[in-house]
Amino acid sequence: MTITGIDAVTYGVNDLAKASAFFADFGLRLRARGAARVVFTTANGAEVVLRPRTARDLPPAFERKPTLRTLTLGVDSKSDLRAIARELGRDRDIAIDRDGTLHALDDHGVPLAFRVSRRRAVKNGGTAVNAPGAVQRIDRRATYYERAVPRSIGHVVLAVPDRDRARRFYERRLGFQVSDFYRGRGVFMRSGKLTGHHTLFFLESADAKVRLNHVAYSVRDIHELFAGGLYMSGRGWKTAIGPGRHRISSAYFWYLANPAGGLAEYYWDEDFATARWRPKTWDPAPTTFAEWVLGKGLPRSKALPPTREKRDAKPKTRA
Ligand SMILES: [Fe+2]
Repeated sequence: MTITGIDAVTYGVNDLAKASAFFADFGLRLRARGAARVVFTTANGAEVVLRPRTARDLPPAFERKPTLRTLTLGVDSKSDLRAIARELGRDRDIAIDRDGTLHALDDHGVPLAFRVSRRRAVKNGGTAVNAPGAVQRIDRRATYYERAVPRSIGHVVLAVPDRDRARRFYERRLGFQVSDFYRGRGVFMRSGKLTGHHTLFFLESADAKVRLNHVAYSVRDIHELFAGGLYMSGRGWKTAIGPGRHRISSAYFWYLANPAGGLAEYYWDEDFATARWRPKTWDPAPTTFAEWVLGKGLPRSKALPPTREKRDAKPKTRA
């Protein structure tokens, strides 16, 4: 049984219109809009489902504010689903929807769902880059993006009271592997034969509660990451931190405060790993979190500085 990645995230929100506006600006495609359910998709078909926080058919919330209410993981086949049902059914309640989606809680009470993946492979389509000895873009100008169009839901980060307990559950029961340890702070985990550095990251919670930290959405290239952050800033959404570049996972990032819960991260160029990847234990330090980081976004250029000719020109006088 191999979990192939994140198929959907369901948020329980206070204000459906505001959360919808956020994800529309964030660059997701609107798939369905109802009075009590709005669905957006990333380019690869992964879904962001927005529901009112008080919806009765949502699983119990692990925090009393807008947050993640279901994390849906994708698998390849129905036999994978049956294997997960057998495994988790040994010690917890499981429920199966009419469409075959399996529901269960993890060991911290985080609501999980499993389904045969509805995601599809997408071509990247990012900007070919030119560098000495590696010229890829000839007779073509580089891409300028107006805004981002995220490709996929890459990872979810949760603060939990016991990260070792989380690690054991996902490693032993669901086949995840550890990618890296953050000493005394957290564990990065991934699932799949060849996959991005982390699908899940469990941080040790400061207050013994489960909290959503962020959900990360991949973009095509560094230009799209900057364009996405600039566009969101221009629309009035607040940067939490970024842009910057992580030391662990190597990815560039830009985090925004998300009215649907936690932060939403644009990211690009993370490490990819197979079974040959060797986990490392990183000591916490500012430079471990990020090689460099800006706190609150980037200034968009407003006007060109005056040219030398204009600056030096003498005021015109009447003859
Ligand atoms: Fe992240």
